[in-house]
Amino acid sequence: MSSVIKSELEKLNKKELFEIATLRKISIPNNWSKSLIVELLALNVSIDNIPKIKPVPLIHRIKTDSAPIIVIKDLAKKFEDITAIENLNLEIIEGELFSLLGPNGAGKTTTINILNGIMKPTKGTISIAGFDVTKNLDAIKKIIGLCPQEAAVFKFLNARENIELFGKLHSVSKEELEERTDNLLELLGLTEASKRKAGGYSGGMLRKLNLIIGLISDPKIVFLDEPTVGMDARARRKTWEFIGSLKEKKKTIILTTHYIEEAEALSDRVGIIDYGKLIELGTPKELMKRHATKNLEEVFLKITGRRIMEEI
Ligand SMILES: Nc1ncnc2c1ncn2[C@@H]1O[C@H](COP(=O)(O)OP(=O)(O)O)[C@@H](O)[C@H]1O
Ligand SMILES: [Mg+2]
Repeated sequence: MSSVIKSELEKLNKKELFEIATLRKISIPNNWSKSLIVELLALNVSIDNIPKIKPVPLIHRIKTDSAPIIVIKDLAKKFEDITAIENLNLEIIEGELFSLLGPNGAGKTTTINILNGIMKPTKGTISIAGFDVTKNLDAIKKIIGLCPQEAAVFKFLNARENIELFGKLHSVSKEELEERTDNLLELLGLTEASKRKAGGYSGGMLRKLNLIIGLISDPKIVFLDEPTVGMDARARRKTWEFIGSLKEKKKTIILTTHYIEEAEALSDRVGIIDYGKLIELGTPKELMKRHATKNLEEVFLKITGRRIMEEI
């Protein structure tokens, strides 16, 4: 009987295995391999426990504190002779605000684009909420939102028209669209300008509009690629406050930045990336303690001998 259970368990992904473990009140360390989890669960579950997991729609599934919502394995991306990402292994926990911090050209945008299915990896796998990015992108698109590095807005439309257009593309209902638009414009201080054509916006205003568009479908997982580039200090603080408030809504946020201050202020965890390699990972506090420094800039300096902002 146990071998039948084992073969059924082997068909599930790691997130689903963690969910079964939660149902059975079994606590499994985050870094256990799938085969080890299967071995343990096979001893503890009955065959009836397994099918219960599969048909439940994603949004209604039980949340676990420890299960990763994004699993990146052996990811690599090459552009001809440039290695933009080298052997990246990383897990993002549901509900955390994770920052990829690194200098220009480190591979941050490439990573975000691959996670969003915009680019194909050269090697490796990515699963988001249990779905494989290269195979189940449609399912993933329903739960993710992207604020790309280059503001993707129509300059001949005003902010409201832009938001409405993208909201409709995501099939957001009319009432929800109106409510979210009003709310987001207000929170980011863009209400007044919202009836002017985006062509006349400053860089910072375009970034804010870009951010609103990325959030209009109320996604569970949000990717923000350099969300505050081009903003003045005041707008940047306001945007940080806003991004921080997304955490209260239990969103999982993956942010890229080359602003050390931003990563320090917002992140639950930071991954430092340089020349396509993840060179450090942990909470800002952990990293500063590990390298006996007062800030993340010095952490980067100690590891690489360079400054993150050097070439900007
Ligand atoms: N489409 C592309 N074609 C060729 N090289 C690229 C392309 N996109 C990115 N790169 C290169 O990959 C590396 C990582 O770039 P990128 O991911 O944009 O870095 P970051 O976002 O950290 O600044 C850089 O060396 C960049 O020049
Ligand atoms: Mg970038």
